[in-house]
Amino acid sequence: MKILKTANAMRKWLDATTGRTVLVPTMGALHRGHGALIEKARKLAGKSGRVVVSIFVNPTQFGPKEDLSRYPRPFSADAEMCQKLGADAIFHPTPETVYPPGFSTYVEEHSVAAGLCGASRPGHFRGVCTVVLKLFNVCRPDVAVFGLKDFQQCRVIARMARDLDVPVRLVFAPTVRESDGLAMSSRNTYLDAEQRAQAPVLRRGLLAAQKAFRAGETSAAKLTAIVARQIATAPIARVDYIAAVDGESLEPVTKLKRGDTIALAVFFGKTRLIDNIQT
Ligand code: PAF
Repeated sequence: MKILKTANAMRKWLDATTGRTVLVPTMGALHRGHGALIEKARKLAGKSGRVVVSIFVNPTQFGPKEDLSRYPRPFSADAEMCQKLGADAIFHPTPETVYPPGFSTYVEEHSVAAGLCGASRPGHFRGVCTVVLKLFNVCRPDVAVFGLKDFQQCRVIARMARDLDVPVRLVFAPTVRESDGLAMSSRNTYLDAEQRAQAPVLRRGLLAAQKAFRAGETSAAKLTAIVARQIATAPIARVDYIAAVDGESLEPVTKLKRGDTIALAVFFGKTRLIDNIQT
């Protein structure tokens, strides 16, 4: 497995090898959720294809008060996992090479990115779109695999790729969960024992709303209230948002139909967790 640290090195390696390229963009601190994405990429690439995992903690998607400096960076363990799961290369650039002095070009999506996490984290999706387009330009993937835990990110990237004619097929993979339902996230490692014990309330709330929808309740207000009531049973939880939205446009809905999404972001202490469920 190659470890490539610059765009030039990546391009040279791509030129010197052949086969379909499947990219898994990550910020490292890899867990089983990422593992499932890499395994999926391996299957999509087949024996003759190339699986590239990018590991880059992207500064432009962190707000000024967010956790950029404390974001975990266990590169050796990440590389070992990539190797075990059959990745062919890791793209691991430094912030200085991705954002050289004078960097002044950003990509903004103005519709799907506007609400939910986009409203709570101004500039976040601008950073995501910018770095993902750069990763696409450098790694030239035929296919890129993202996890649906970051549901809004998936929709924003899909819109960006469509709007800017990016020649990549996007594959969105289901969220991988701990046995108690908590969605796997690199940020789960920030939770102390009490926060960790209470965090599965997010999944319980979303499942309760899904059950009510399947029993005939379609009111967004009532379904989100079901989620909120469940979350209120966790004394430490502080809701950022619970929203019912159209599964494609992410516009708020008042009545849910099949394929819509209930999404949430909730703080446990300083750690902000997100999750979602499809009706
Ligand atoms: O989902 C992530 O880990 C990041 O937002 C991504 C897509 C790698 C861009 O930095």
